[in-house]
Amino acid sequence: MRTQVGIVGAGPAGLMLSHLLHRHGIDSVVLECRSREYVEHRVRAGVLEQGSVDLLCRTGLGERLQREGMRHEGIELRFDGESHRVPLTELTGRAITVYGQQEVVKDLITARLDAGGQILFDVDDVRLDGLDTDSPVIRFRRDGREEELHCDFVAGCDGFHGVSRGSVPDGVLTTYERTYPFAWLGILAAAPPAVDELIYARTERGFALYSLRSPEISRLYLQVAPDEDIADWPDERIWAELRARLETVPGWSLNEGPILEKGITPMRSFVVEPMQWERLYLAGDAVHIVPPTGAKGMNLALADVALLGDAFAAWYGEGRTNLLANYSRTALRRVWRAQHFSWWMTSMLHRLDGEDAYEAKLQSSTLRYVATSRAYATSLAENYVGLPEV
Ligand code: FAD
Ligand code: PHB
Repeated sequence: MRTQVGIVGAGPAGLMLSHLLHRHGIDSVVLECRSREYVEHRVRAGVLEQGSVDLLCRTGLGERLQREGMRHEGIELRFDGESHRVPLTELTGRAITVYGQQEVVKDLITARLDAGGQILFDVDDVRLDGLDTDSPVIRFRRDGREEELHCDFVAGCDGFHGVSRGSVPDGVLTTYERTYPFAWLGILAAAPPAVDELIYARTERGFALYSLRSPEISRLYLQVAPDEDIADWPDERIWAELRARLETVPGWSLNEGPILEKGITPMRSFVVEPMQWERLYLAGDAVHIVPPTGAKGMNLALADVALLGDAFAAWYGEGRTNLLANYSRTALRRVWRAQHFSWWMTSMLHRLDGEDAYEAKLQSSTLRYVATSRAYATSLAENYVGLPEV
């Protein structure tokens, strides 16, 4: 098989890149190790920045998003028994939209297949070869048969555990990382959300987040130990802990319902530089991870491939190499802004084990400063809704 851009991974990054390339008349094939059913039902992020919404709408993917997505103009910070609203739109003129990542993935897969695009699901043993030549090859197995995809470029969009990043020779990439001494236990529940806006809560028992997916479905998270076993969290224990951390203001209670899905996600900050080597271009979680507290992961993945789409268009359309050459440097500016914001939100809101009393005082002071200073709240708000230019 032959294509212009071979894309590894059918997450938001790989699918969006394929969609953008198609709009520029550039051919691509997406290789995905999981089934279509699996990737369409993998529950992950839920918050789209204004820039991500604009990108999806501008490229013909806004129909269901505009119908079902929920525009939010603020978030709530809950700490020390008080609630404080950060009025995102009043402070920045922009908003966020709550729309599940798996809905974005479904919309992208439908758009690609309707346009005759090729997504090969259930492929095995993907290997990248000849990345330092003009004609790299992606080898893989499908239905037990060895196959080869010859291309001009490879886009590594295969997430943190993918193979692309590891195909770069030793010594080329530099890794910057931080792990956190906690994880998030997330649930999806068939319960009408008791909130119109997301609640980020800091308590002495740990952090909790109240989010949602629709008028009938709530999405909630609890800070837990990094090695926590989900088997130790029967539904009643999860609800009891959510109540203890969220029902901290008088007269407010959450809505409970059957838990449809639950899982534990480790927290990590991670960046690899540069985001390109020879004919391999890396995007999304394959090159950078943020803790979910800033709601940035999927947005960064989309921002990377928006740059990459334009860069390939300039190369194929006009023979211009400058955008491809600058891809890593340009993308890393946004990546590092999101790294800082996600680290800052995480540090401000989580309980640290064997809590350092000095640090706990700093957290309270920082939260109070956000709640009382328009300047500081604006800084949070503009990062949260996404900075148009970084
Ligand atoms: P991915 O979505 O990971 O897509 C990569 C794709 O590549 C996958 O479909 C994978 O199956 C495929 N793949 C992997 N290896 C191979 C291979 N060898 N060959 C072929 N295909 C391969 N962010 C938030 O903002 N909020 C959240 O609540 C949140 N929760 C998360 C929960 C989990 C468990 C994880 C892992 C991430 C979460 N994130 C969250 C982060 C956010 O979902 C990611 O930033 C986003 O998915 C990045 O998109 P991507 O396309 O770069 O990578
Ligand atoms: C979610 O709805 O899944 C969500 C929202 C905000 C975050 C993280 C996850 O910061």
